[in-house]
Amino acid sequence: MNLSTVPALAVCLFVLAGCSSGGGKGPVGKIKDEALSAVPPRMASSFKFADEDYFHDMDQTKDGPLQLTTDQIQGRNMWLVWTAGDDRLWDVLNWKSYGTFDLLQTISSHPGAKSGRHNRWEYLGVVNEPCFEEAKQGDPQRFGLWLDKRIPGCDPRFGGNDPFADAEKYPGVKYLHRGEEMPVGSFYGEPTGIVGLRLFPNPNFDAKAKANWNPDKYYANDPAYVTKDLVRPYRIGMSCGFCHVGPNPLKPPADPNNPKWENLSSNVGAQYFWFDRIFAWQADEASLIYQVLHTYRPGALDTSLVSTDYIDNPRTMNAIYYLAPRLELAKRWGNETLAGGGLNNKQFNDFFPSGPFTLFYEPPASVWTPRVLKDGSDSVGVMGALNRVYLNIGEYSEEWLRHFNALFGGEKTTPIEISEARENSTYWNVTESWTPAMADFFLHSTEPHHLADAPGGKAYLSTDEAVLTRGKEVFAERCARCHSSKAPAPATGVDPGGCSGSAYYTPNGNDGCFNRYWAWTKTDDYKKQMREIVMRPDFLDGNYLSSELRVPVTLTQTNACSPLASNAIGGSIWDNFSSETYKQLPSVGEITYYNPLTGAAKKFAMPAGGRGYTRPASLVSLWSTSPFLLNNSVGVFNPSPSVADRMTSFNTAIEQMLWPEKRAKDSTIGGKVPGPSLIDRTTAESYVKIPFGFLPGTLADFLKFDKVFLPSILDKTGLRIGPIPVGTPVGLLSNLNLDPGQQLTLGERLKRDVDVVKLAALAKASLKTGATNFSEITELLLSLSKCPDLIVNRGHYFGTDLLDPKEGEPGLSDADKRALIEFLKTF
Ligand code: HEC
Ligand code: HEC
Repeated sequence: MNLSTVPALAVCLFVLAGCSSGGGKGPVGKIKDEALSAVPPRMASSFKFADEDYFHDMDQTKDGPLQLTTDQIQGRNMWLVWTAGDDRLWDVLNWKSYGTFDLLQTISSHPGAKSGRHNRWEYLGVVNEPCFEEAKQGDPQRFGLWLDKRIPGCDPRFGGNDPFADAEKYPGVKYLHRGEEMPVGSFYGEPTGIVGLRLFPNPNFDAKAKANWNPDKYYANDPAYVTKDLVRPYRIGMSCGFCHVGPNPLKPPADPNNPKWENLSSNVGAQYFWFDRIFAWQADEASLIYQVLHTYRPGALDTSLVSTDYIDNPRTMNAIYYLAPRLELAKRWGNETLAGGGLNNKQFNDFFPSGPFTLFYEPPASVWTPRVLKDGSDSVGVMGALNRVYLNIGEYSEEWLRHFNALFGGEKTTPIEISEARENSTYWNVTESWTPAMADFFLHSTEPHHLADAPGGKAYLSTDEAVLTRGKEVFAERCARCHSSKAPAPATGVDPGGCSGSAYYTPNGNDGCFNRYWAWTKTDDYKKQMREIVMRPDFLDGNYLSSELRVPVTLTQTNACSPLASNAIGGSIWDNFSSETYKQLPSVGEITYYNPLTGAAKKFAMPAGGRGYTRPASLVSLWSTSPFLLNNSVGVFNPSPSVADRMTSFNTAIEQMLWPEKRAKDSTIGGKVPGPSLIDRTTAESYVKIPFGFLPGTLADFLKFDKVFLPSILDKTGLRIGPIPVGTPVGLLSNLNLDPGQQLTLGERLKRDVDVVKLAALAKASLKTGATNFSEITELLLSLSKCPDLIVNRGHYFGTDLLDPKEGEPGLSDADKRALIEFLKTF
């Protein structure tokens, strides 16, 4: 493999960091959102909470449609159609990503495009909205765009219309030029034909933009026409449902491209999403940005893509099950302490004066919270966690984007303050007042989907009682300590309740709360009690099948990049949304990583301050959620949501979990390192590409005219740095630590600065000559990496021979593993 041109990329990243700024940084916290800037300003009370039960047929259980109260219906509507003004962000990201991202292209069915409504399921994995059909031509009513059209008469309810698009009932925000060239519309936008995406008039689309608009040039991606200054007629808003709605495992659609509402579930997660193709609408393998996105396996994405933390760590949009039992568990083991801006999060108590909900907060600073997100970083209570995500998908982006440099980084990240959002964003205030209804909806809509209730599901289940009993025993002894919310009352001194700060864990010691709990789960006392609990016929009822304890990555041995995510640590973007006790968590010790060229092992010290832990995934409805692990790297993805195909995928995934020798090995170092070793490498020769139309004016002119300067990085269309050879480990480049805000000791900073200078020098040389010392560069890049752990499919060796021998738990026999799998299928 040839890595000679990698340093070019480093230079380019520095260039990018510089030339993509323009986030309008400046004094943060004084900018109003579009709703508050509208004339006249829109206050939260002017937004009406939609209560039409339009999604009545969704979220069916084995007993049919859910019976919801008005409040819960409103909560579901919010989840599916409220976009909180985030259409602004998704528009800005177009030029910030140098044209890579363009949702208006993604949702079109233009004949020249890679996808249209007819193949969206296979190609994009997004959910087509029922009662729409593919555009057969550019729509003159919609500026020649090829957008899905509603089928008249298909659904006669609400006068055959989308009730949320009613502009009279839900008047849109009249900001800037919105309303000049087309009606202002509804603040819920219009349906796009894709669940979770809503269409809004672009407030920048004035008479001049209209005169300039040319759909043919737009669809042809004419480089002279599609520039950073092009104003599209519409912006696209995104609701939570976009990434969380999927086919209901109990009622799979006959044709996934044409589901009915009854085939869809709000909470299962977009398990089939190809975010690489959604975000990079051209899916150009020769583009490095696409290569980074391509490390996101279907059903996963990196939620810190926009507010970058310099780590590529895609995570699955996991199903949200059993919220009520999860809250019970929070009451037992989820105590955290808040401080600073975190105290400003809403709690249930702000909405409910009495009753069970008031038990989750005790003034002034104590919360009992589910460990929301894989790294348990959203640890401020359910309300705060829900409100935060709106910011992350673009609400109040006017302010949010001023706290970091979107996508590329290079500027210091600062916390977005809840207090500022409350003062300056109507969208924030509307959202905050509505999320209790959303939580209420989840409390009534997150029942499991059992295989036994799926069509033909029973045929996959064992009826052999002896096998099932053995499976239960194995589960009790090896898995339940992390994967059950029903558990014996802990012996004195080993209860992890209330223990979430600095005393939580000691690496290689035994006096941390987690250490004591873990040691206790190895005792006969624990195992005996746990076996009895698992044997009970109602063991699975109301069982969240996770303990939600923070598990050190040194124990799971899984890829460290997700636990290293840093956006929630003190002083970073989500500072207000993580608890003080999260911020006080100790280091989990050292991990081992491997050089992707030589396979040489090296140690990496995991930082303290919240990072290094993963909460156990819930195993509810496990049969329907493969592939496994938080990056979906274990098992084979199957694009069909039928029961049979889910079971095929489940079988490959669970076998790879329990027989890790069946997992993939890396092509280069596979023979040299122990265990699974898959590294995500570039699939083609690729370049960092920036079309001229997206370069800042001065830089573009400079590059065009100064042909003497680095001619190799120019082609007819723009800047083109590379090539980065096929087979380059993506993480080596994407995890390069450019974070100027990180807390380093003087020694660390000096070493880092020396390394950066060395890298820049090598980069310059290689751009001129193409000759560089590969091994030296790899080492440099690893030492400058925020997460040098490149093997994506390792770890979680519980019940297998690969578990660290010091745990004293030899691998299970094949028969025991088979029995365990039969029991897991009943989840
Ligand atoms: C662009 C895709 C996307 C959108 C839109 C989105 N999410 Fe998510 N969501 C994810 C991903 C990915 C995860 C997993 C992240 C993790 O666990 O770290 C997730 C996880 C969650 C979880 C945690 C689940 C758990 O089990 O801990 C909650 C709650 C959630 N999202 C709420 C929301 C809300 C509320 C919205 C709308 C404001 C929303 N999401 C919109 C992608 C999305
Ligand atoms: C020390 C705690 C711990 C033990 C013991 C444990 N797990 Fe896990 N499990 C986790 C954590 C943490 C995750 C999430 C890891 C990740 O995705 O990186 C997980 C994830 C999983 C997943 C993947 C789920 C998904 O949706 O991706 C499966 C399946 C699983 N565990 C099964 C088991 C079984 C079966 C056992 C017993 C043999 C077991 N686990 C024992 C902590 C544990």
